[in-house]
Amino acid sequence: MLGKTQPKISGPEFFIGRGDETLISFGSGQPDLPPPDEAFAILKDFRGFKYGQVQGNDSLRSALAAINPGTNADEFVITNGASEALDLALRAIAQPGARVLMARPYYYSYPRNVELAGMTPVYVDLDEKGKIPYEAFEKEIRTCRAVMLNSPSNPAGTVQDIETLKKIETLCDELGVYILSDEVYKDLIYVRENYSLHGERVITLDSFSKTYAMCGLRVGFLHSPDRSLVQKVIEMKSHTAMNTSIVSQAMALAALGSPRSYVANYKKVWMERRDLMYEGLKELGLELWKPEGAFYLLPKFKESGKVVHDLYYNYQMITYDGAWFGAPGHVRFSYALDVKKIQEGLKRLGQFLKTEYRSY
Ligand SMILES: Cc1ncc(COP(=O)(O)O)c(C=O)c1O
Repeated sequence: MLGKTQPKISGPEFFIGRGDETLISFGSGQPDLPPPDEAFAILKDFRGFKYGQVQGNDSLRSALAAINPGTNADEFVITNGASEALDLALRAIAQPGARVLMARPYYYSYPRNVELAGMTPVYVDLDEKGKIPYEAFEKEIRTCRAVMLNSPSNPAGTVQDIETLKKIETLCDELGVYILSDEVYKDLIYVRENYSLHGERVITLDSFSKTYAMCGLRVGFLHSPDRSLVQKVIEMKSHTAMNTSIVSQAMALAALGSPRSYVANYKKVWMERRDLMYEGLKELGLELWKPEGAFYLLPKFKESGKVVHDLYYNYQMITYDGAWFGAPGHVRFSYALDVKKIQEGLKRLGQFLKTEYRSY
């Protein structure tokens, strides 16, 4: 027991930023590995302290344009993580009550982001392989203002087939439907190369949080080829967060200059952990998809809310209730923690399954 009173676990916000050495956290999706050295190296001489450009530093936007062929620095806005980019993008395209489609399970913020923009979330369930069922998706797209895509997916860990992504891209283009393509895990795909979506109405949301392990530094970005949309986003940002932290932007720029081997090496680490966790959970008899990207697993559990509660208060383990992602009856495990902790976590989970869980 961590204490006598057991406050209710309300949602992800209960756990974000929480953690100590005794806890095994399969919770928050943040890399435990450090950012590239290059990112820290700039700190010694950094002396900026004034407001920065609301759109983001020229140098960072130009560097992003240089590595994303066919784009221009003016088409990027540097944001407080992909989180702010999502919020700004949705508010920029908002029409009161308009429908916004997403696959379920979804990243837990999506429905609230859509509602805060005054629109209505609409869901299509992933199929038994964790893929978007195109026919059902297509039907809904026709009545929607926008589609939110997230491949690789948090929390499913699956990657959508390129063929499906291309069909959605083409249909949305024909219908004038926006695509919000959340590509924060694009550098963490284990099964194929990334496929980035393109088009006049494709708004790409990306981040330095996962690729460069810089979650707390809060740097992400939005890209759209539509300059009037970009202008709208900048105008909104000038009344809310204003510029993204200038020191974080300088660190992000330095991270882009790190050797490509940084990302490749980390991917190897993630794959080893993925295998360890996947095999470990299978051995414990759990039913789940094999992750193809990102760093999440979503096994089935009876009474997922009670599981998350009991694992936290009785086994000192943080896990996330699938219900927060539109998938009750599942528990999300992030494997962004080191091998020893994963092994210890699997041991504790094994004990829980053999004892308490049997009487559920
Ligand atoms: C799918 C997805 N989108 C967006 C975010 C937000 O990331 P950021 O730290 O860039 O705000 C996350 C974070 O976990 C995520 O999993």
